[in-house]
Amino acid sequence: VNTVVAVDGPAAAGKTTTCLALARSFDLHYLESGRTYRIIAFEAIQRKIPVENTRKITGLCDELITESRSATLLTSDRYEPETLRATPVNVAVSTVAKIAEVRQRVTSLIRLWAGAQTRCVIEGRDIGTTIFPAATVKFYLTARPEVRAMRRVRQERAASYENVLGDVIRRDEADMSRASSPLVPAEDAIRIDTSELTFEQVVSRMTAACRN
Ligand code: CDP
Repeated sequence: VNTVVAVDGPAAAGKTTTCLALARSFDLHYLESGRTYRIIAFEAIQRKIPVENTRKITGLCDELITESRSATLLTSDRYEPETLRATPVNVAVSTVAKIAEVRQRVTSLIRLWAGAQTRCVIEGRDIGTTIFPAATVKFYLTARPEVRAMRRVRQERAASYENVLGDVIRRDEADMSRASSPLVPAEDAIRIDTSELTFEQVVSRMTAACRN
């Protein structure tokens, strides 16, 4: 892979929409790494495997990787986005993502996927810090929790503001405090607080940084 654009940051900071815009502008393959953690959490719920059970969740992860023939687990279209964004998955996903053995496996899958591309943009929590510390450009997008929760409520009309804010704060806390690859900005990441910026302003800053 020649070019890796790493976009990290907390829940609902605007990573997906801005990554898609960069992917279009610069002709990059796009990967949403959080989806894989969501697939694992969803399958655990379906199979009634407690998400705290490290051994069983790691086993499930291996099974899913084998079943989907490795890297396709990342890009599988078997799962509806709404299903992966339902409340039970939101509740379970950070616990699954805490498990070091699961993170190692997802990290390998992402590196394998990226190895098959020449140019890509990847969004997540640990892309610029752990998965691609030598990424071409790194961004860390953030915004105040209230702003992020409000954006998500507009996007997913069914959810109530209080519930979404609670989920955002709880996942921030879990993602930032875990032992394995916690959510922190990479030292060389371009940090953008999007609280007071429009989507166009965020994209134009990111585009300018990618051109340099
Ligand atoms: O879209 P949103 O920002 O709400 O979350 P996501 O990107 O779908 O990620 C869901 C969860 O997966 C996060 O809250 C993290 O716990 C975990 N995750 C992670 O640990 N590492 C990544 N590279 C991506 C996601």
